[in-house]
Amino acid sequence: MNTKMHVDSYERNWMIFSAVMLVLFAAAVSVAAFGLGIQVPAPEQRVDPKTVATDPNSPWSNPGLREVSPGVYDAYILAHAIPNWEYLPKEITVPVGSKVTFYVTSADVQHGFKIQDTNANFMVLPGQVSKLTITFKEVRTHNFICTEYCGSGHGIMYGAVIVTP
Ligand code: CUA
Repeated sequence: MNTKMHVDSYERNWMIFSAVMLVLFAAAVSVAAFGLGIQVPAPEQRVDPKTVATDPNSPWSNPGLREVSPGVYDAYILAHAIPNWEYLPKEITVPVGSKVTFYVTSADVQHGFKIQDTNANFMVLPGQVSKLTITFKEVRTHNFICTEYCGSGHGIMYGAVIVTP
């Protein structure tokens, strides 16, 4: 009895190709995560979008920058379309080298949050908090914009991170 399984060379080549692709994809994901520091923004916590801007216990009732230790900041950003399309605050200023963790949420509809020339680019959903940490290594201004269509004022929804010496 012949126990050797016959695999057509055409089929075998595709099996090898598939295995090689799996290794390449795993390598690409590892390089992106550990080499380039690309993070997947995970939902951080849930909030009530009806009270997130007004509840005195909510950090978004007083949005802005908090210094947690020298050079390390938390930035609470509120996106809203009512009464007008904007981020609160519209601008934050940090010294160069600062490590800033953004906590962004929406008080009404779905928005986006993309900071120019960084890997921050995520959805901002009412009821959820999106979190991402960025270290600002250059003295410059990074504009941020809304990347999800959120109504007639979508195009004027922007702000800036100003990095000072
Ligand atoms: Cu907010 Cu588009």
